[in-house]
Amino acid sequence: MKSTASSPGKVILFGEHFVVYGVRAILCAIDKRITATSRLIDERKIRILSSIGTAEMDLARDSPQGIQPGFMAPFLHIAQEVLKEYNEERGIEVVLESEIPAGVGLGSSSAACVAAAASATGLYERKSKEEILRKALEAERKIFEDASGADSSISAFGGLMAYSKDRQERIEFKGDLSLIIANSRQVHSTRELVMKVREFKSKNEKLFGDLCSTEGTLVDDALKALGRNDLRALGQLMSKNQEMLERIGVSTKVLNDLVREADKISYGSKMTGAGGGGCIIALVDRTNAATTLEHMKKLGDCFTAKIDFEGLSYL
Ligand code: MEV
Repeated sequence: MKSTASSPGKVILFGEHFVVYGVRAILCAIDKRITATSRLIDERKIRILSSIGTAEMDLARDSPQGIQPGFMAPFLHIAQEVLKEYNEERGIEVVLESEIPAGVGLGSSSAACVAAAASATGLYERKSKEEILRKALEAERKIFEDASGADSSISAFGGLMAYSKDRQERIEFKGDLSLIIANSRQVHSTRELVMKVREFKSKNEKLFGDLCSTEGTLVDDALKALGRNDLRALGQLMSKNQEMLERIGVSTKVLNDLVREADKISYGSKMTGAGGGGCIIALVDRTNAATTLEHMKKLGDCFTAKIDFEGLSYL
């Protein structure tokens, strides 16, 4: 028997990094997914297969604490916990297939954790999105203990969300919002960028505090602009958020250049996610989507994304 689940990637419209320090972020699930398919196997092994790497653990030989840190660690952890929870004597294979480029700020690893947790658990029963999210986040925090949980939450629930560590609110939005996503092709490590910001904060406590309150106001204004379906105002606020990210040192020259180009046609743009590379997002609607895409295509890889309203789903 097989169990398949899929979960969307995400972009952060506002508030990345500041969310780690309690500021609200605005996230949007995108219509690009990761699919996980699990099946029980006779060998006492955990096997994770994906296009960007594989991992194997011998349950008869390796110690349960012996999972090596690395990008495959959360999936081994999820599989191990599921086998334990259901007193399973057999092993498990989880195959991950992705429409989301990895390591470029589009939430591929969180989406993979959510999909893997749902597909492995789905071999026994279907659990609520909240319970799957708890498993996925626990696994994610094995390699990155500071993870705010924003990426896995939006992947589990879909749509648009205002997220802080202690409060999550779904944003009802029925307008015509699309994003052009351009990839800088610079791969980054979220953990390292979060550590870089921690260092910036420790050297500039007062400034960082001020930047957090400015970001908080920016997010409040963005929520109002979304409420009015005012893409022009939203785009301008995105550009302001980009300035904040440049100030804390997580944008790069390539990202800045992409943003400047995108600003020429779209409503506004910014880097998204951890930075240090990764992607930029440009806000568009049907009046300027095609022209922005055409313009950005001259500079590199880019594609259009829409909001995914479904979040985690079972196939
Ligand atoms: C990464 O997509 C978002 C960060 O804010 C880290 C986090 O929230 O865990 C940089």
